Amino acid sequence: MNIQKVNGLKGEVQIPGDKSISHRGIMLGALAKGTTKITNFLQGADCLSTIGCFRQMGIEIENTSNEVLVHGKGLHGLRAPQNTLDVGNSGTTMRLLCGILSPQAFASALTGDRSIQTRPMKRVIEPLSQMGADIQSLKGNGCAPLQIQGSRLKGIHYQSPVASAQVKSCVLFAGMYADKTTSVTEPVLSRNHSELMLQHLGAKLSGEGTTVSIEPEPLLEAREIPVPGDISSAAYFIAAGLLVPHSQILIKNVGVNPTRSGMLKVCHAMGADIQYLNEHRDSGEPTADLLVTSSSLTGTVIEGEIIPTLIDELPMLAVMAAFAQGKTIIRNAEELKVKESDRIKAVTENLSAMGADITATCDGMIINGGRRLTGADIRTQKDHRIAMSFAVAALAAEGVTHIGDADCVNISYPEFYQDLQKLGGIRFDR
Ligand code: S3P
Repeated sequence: MNIQKVNGLKGEVQIPGDKSISHRGIMLGALAKGTTKITNFLQGADCLSTIGCFRQMGIEIENTSNEVLVHGKGLHGLRAPQNTLDVGNSGTTMRLLCGILSPQAFASALTGDRSIQTRPMKRVIEPLSQMGADIQSLKGNGCAPLQIQGSRLKGIHYQSPVASAQVKSCVLFAGMYADKTTSVTEPVLSRNHSELMLQHLGAKLSGEGTTVSIEPEPLLEAREIPVPGDISSAAYFIAAGLLVPHSQILIKNVGVNPTRSGMLKVCHAMGADIQYLNEHRDSGEPTADLLVTSSSLTGTVIEGEIIPTLIDELPMLAVMAAFAQGKTIIRNAEELKVKESDRIKAVTENLSAMGADITATCDGMIINGGRRLTGADIRTQKDHRIAMSFAVAALAAEGVTHIGDADCVNISYPEFYQDLQKLGGIRFDR
């Protein structure tokens, strides 16, 4: 896909549903009693993988374009899958499913694509084994494929070494089947969608600071789940509106949960003009419309507790930093190395190819912004967030940018290029 510089993006965009919340809606809907209606469900490949896995375990799921009905069978209603469960590219599906599968009365196996088979699964194998689970990495390398024999689980307190909502959610989901209370403490608070949804469906949770506990055997009852727009997808439109001169974009119904919205704080520190409109709350999740106007940005430091709240937006923020005046330092973001690709490497190599002054560090990047960027051949590593970040970079860079494997956006945002095109003036050549 070839993309060229544009001058002025104008209009309104309706962001597709949040990926994290869509996954959790299917999983907890399957474990609830009754029919869960999920509206604004994300029809991206990752969430469709989650649907596929639960259908294999006997859950009837009706998926029309914008609404999903999950006919839940209660906490103990899953059936043994006939085949290995395939999570595709989805780390969330694999790690959260490990928590649900470990306590079942049946054996199961999980695998996925090449990328997922290189991603660390020890981070969930470790706490689940402490709870008494029997879960093995079949190649002995701590990665998928994984084999699980169902076991009875003990409630534990888990001190997680990583701030990861996937690890936290995995342990909490397993904790629903344990013999007593299960709790997790993480070094820094990660996204809390599992906690909010579990409470919305009737589970008993408590906690303080970065610790959360769940009581066993909750009676989950089906309730409607309205999914807010995904702030991680909105991030590309926020950046496009800020970077392309003479732009103004209204981004509708964006989830602005504080455990996810660190990017907005960083944009503010960089001098961005973003207005919050129409703020409200849906099933515990705060949402707002965001009005973004082109702004001249300055560099900043992104580090510490804010990192988990913007971890998926860091590729986009690094691109923004390359267009900003002055230095940006990103620290404490070593988790970027174990995402769908090594995102420190992918961002550094591609921004360098466009002419940016960027250095990779062991836990982030240092960017001296303000150089003139020119179009380049972008190697996305089939990573959706790299493809979308550099599609936005292309809109503000000189000349033509080629995005390799551009279709990988299907993972989280199938309509990405069409939605961008609606804002005017953009030409894509395939
Ligand atoms: C997610 C948690 C984050 C995030 C991922 C989705 C989730 O991963 O990067 O895209 O839905 O729980 P980690 O838990 O590995 O930080």
